[in-house]
Amino acid sequence: MSDAGQLQLLRQAAVAAREHAYAPYSHFRVGAALRATDGTIFPGCNVENSSYPAGICAERGAIAAAVAAGYRTFSHVVIVTDAEHPTPPCGICRQVLVEFSSQLEIISVTTAGAETIWSLSDLLPSPFTPQSLPHL
Ligand code: THU
Repeated sequence: MSDAGQLQLLRQAAVAAREHAYAPYSHFRVGAALRATDGTIFPGCNVENSSYPAGICAERGAIAAAVAAGYRTFSHVVIVTDAEHPTPPCGICRQVLVEFSSQLEIISVTTAGAETIWSLSDLLPSPFTPQSLPHL
């Protein structure tokens, strides 16, 4: 399948995941779809909680599902929201993503069709990574 075709599938997975977002407090529904380097797709959505800090972002939900399935290297993540402009991943999600894939490409889209692409290294320069720990 072409790169464009794969990215289209990733977009569709993120849009579908967003439909399942549980965001009764912020009303900001986020969908994500993470592409493993072999092409396997892992969707995620934000899951909020009445104890607000217990909520989790869509990107971290996708990472958790992928790692639980045995995947640890990723090439792309698509994020979808209905914000006016494409939203970048939050700082915590950047840190969680860089643990596994420093070269990740982040494609953020809006439901209205706007799109912005960043590399994770642009959004999180000089990251703290496993190699930063002295005993590794
Ligand atoms: N959110 C995400 O799911 N991903 C991000 O990168 C930013 C924020 C969620 C968390 C919360 O449920 C809602 O958006 C508002 O912050």
